[in-house]
Amino acid sequence: MTHNGQGRAQWSSRLLFVLVASGSAVGLGNIWKFPYMAGSGGGGAFVLVYLLCVLFIGLPIFVAELYIGQQSQANPVKAFEIMHKPKTPWRFIGLLGVLSAYLILSFYSVVGGWVLDFSYQALTNQFGSLTQESIQNILTALFADPGRQIFWQFIFLGISVYVVAQGVVKGIERASKVLMPVLGFLLFFLFIRALFLPGAKDAVVFLFVPDFSLLTPKIVLEAVGQAFFTLSLGIGAMMIYGSYLNKSENLLKVSFLVSLLDTGIALVAGFVVFSIVFTFKFQPEAGPALMFQTLPMIFSKMPASYFVAVAFFLLVAFAALTSAFSLLEIIISWKTEQFNISRKKAAVIAGIFLFGLGLLTAMSTNILSQTTIFGLTFFGLFDKLTTSVFMPLGSILFAVFYGWILGPKAVKATVDQNKGTKYFFIVFLWLVRIVAPGAVGIMMIKGLFY
Ligand code: TRP
Repeated sequence: MTHNGQGRAQWSSRLLFVLVASGSAVGLGNIWKFPYMAGSGGGGAFVLVYLLCVLFIGLPIFVAELYIGQQSQANPVKAFEIMHKPKTPWRFIGLLGVLSAYLILSFYSVVGGWVLDFSYQALTNQFGSLTQESIQNILTALFADPGRQIFWQFIFLGISVYVVAQGVVKGIERASKVLMPVLGFLLFFLFIRALFLPGAKDAVVFLFVPDFSLLTPKIVLEAVGQAFFTLSLGIGAMMIYGSYLNKSENLLKVSFLVSLLDTGIALVAGFVVFSIVFTFKFQPEAGPALMFQTLPMIFSKMPASYFVAVAFFLLVAFAALTSAFSLLEIIISWKTEQFNISRKKAAVIAGIFLFGLGLLTAMSTNILSQTTIFGLTFFGLFDKLTTSVFMPLGSILFAVFYGWILGPKAVKATVDQNKGTKYFFIVFLWLVRIVAPGAVGIMMIKGLFY
């Protein structure tokens, strides 16, 4: 594979790019992480900060990443060498991205495994006649069992490796084309169902009426981290997807569309989860267990619950898989282009490493639950390190590279793709140069050290 456009894979159309990029963005971050983080972050105030972060910080950085990828047509390490100069120190951000992709995918595949385990339980009709208590026991039992988690983690990784090994268009694009529309349809169906739950109104109040007294610097950092996580920013995922885009594609338009879809889906998922939480009087602060404890409840109480439960968990699994593809693609594009090995070989090697690293997460809820670093289990540590440190740091550097190193010329070229006005250009330039990186920097310092 070359890096100059010749012979390099390219997405089939703009629509398909929006679909794969949404596939990357929409994942466990929306359906699993967003609701529990909003729940433990106090609801409305967290959601508001998160929305502002998506708009004023996430979007400019999204465009920066896409631009660097699109213009370099290379993996995130090589991209900086092409855009700047050979052996530039900027390439280390690309490497930090590869490292982050390993860390994120290692725990992402374990949580993806939990979803597969729940899909299997739904298939074998385990959710039929559940009480609240017995639902909580399902997850507790899974957490206590490393073998079961490792088994499903292996399956999750295996599927991801298989699909991505087939190629960008033949693997990632083809799978997303089927999975994404079905996901949208099912979420819509659940949304309608949740609207009729008695807890729906409380859910809206909880998510949209902010209580600012609950905001701490730590929660603000979590909200910005979540904005990056959910949009797949800061480690080169959008950069690599951008590198398979046509060089003249309108980046402002596609990044806006993807962000809108992603945010909409997170809010709907949050609404569904909290409608159940308030209907059945669960704790909004349940943490990572939240989705797994709430959703089976709605299924045991609705007509055709068997089919809905199966479909739902399978679809969360699909959403997780299409996100895992992008994480894996960062690693694989780097390996194939840097070491000149075949895609298949790179995929298998990455899979083996990821499986090994993932064991630490699978054991974080049992054998290794007492082994902590800075008070966190391996799972907590990998999540925290990537979401609160590497992703914000990478994002700051991407914005600085785009806004200052490539500079106004690059930003102007992006704005021109969209036929933007001069006024818009000025606003966007300073968002990229100062507002986005500055705000993230301040939040990082405050959130980490105070
Ligand atoms: N955005 C995905 C989600 O919400 C996760 C994800 C995929 C990701 N690729 C990423 C997160 C790259 C950070 C960076 O579940």
